Amino acid sequence: MPRRILLVIGHPDPGPQRLCRALAKSYAEGVERGGHILRLIDIAAIDFPVLRRAEDFEHGAVPESLKSAAEAVVWAEHLVFVFPLWLGTMPALLKAFLEQVMRPGVAFAYPEKGGGFPKTLLAGRSARVVVTMGMPGLFYRFWFLGHGIAGMRRNILNFVGIKPVHETLFGMVGSGGDKKHGKWLEQMRRLGERAG
Ligand SMILES: Cc1cc2nc3c(=O)[nH]c(=O)nc-3n(C[C@H](O)[C@H](O)[C@H](O)COP(=O)(O)O)c2cc1C
Repeated sequence: MPRRILLVIGHPDPGPQRLCRALAKSYAEGVERGGHILRLIDIAAIDFPVLRRAEDFEHGAVPESLKSAAEAVVWAEHLVFVFPLWLGTMPALLKAFLEQVMRPGVAFAYPEKGGGFPKTLLAGRSARVVVTMGMPGLFYRFWFLGHGIAGMRRNILNFVGIKPVHETLFGMVGSGGDKKHGKWLEQMRRLGERAG
């Protein structure tokens, strides 16, 4: 059964030499091989404003340049985010993107009569977070408790109803060379093929 996949490249650098871009490309190849339907968002290629005021978040609209991205988030059955770990978490540009897109009216709704929990609007979707980093992946997970990714999973994705959220960590990106990277690219192709 073909699945609708949204692949978000969350790297602020549009340079084609970035590992995250190669990983995303392999995932996209796998999606095609598996006969699934792909939409791609490259946040480095979109010019969008940073959210500055709570009023804009609560009552404003999605900025024009992000309207199709917000629509793609709602369209997708499975969302895949690929980004580098920067200072222990996602790059600020990806957070800025999520603040604009995962907003009331798109991703959740405030309770009508004031009290109570917000209503999730993206329930039924799953996600995968693919993160590259300089340190060993196990070190990030056990010493730093994977806090940046856990925050993204719980505070953002689970909050709007997206679960399960799977994680793929690629650590020690600077060592191991082409052989290691080749294995990772094949891993991404296989994930894409099974829409995982
Ligand atoms: C601003 C910045 C902050 C970084 N912070 C971390 C970090 O906190 N932990 C870590 O393991 N690696 C860190 N790194 C290394 C990146 O995670 C690594 O360069 C990246 O994953 C490589 O993927 P890319 O080729 O797609 O950029 C940082 C790199 C930059 C540029």
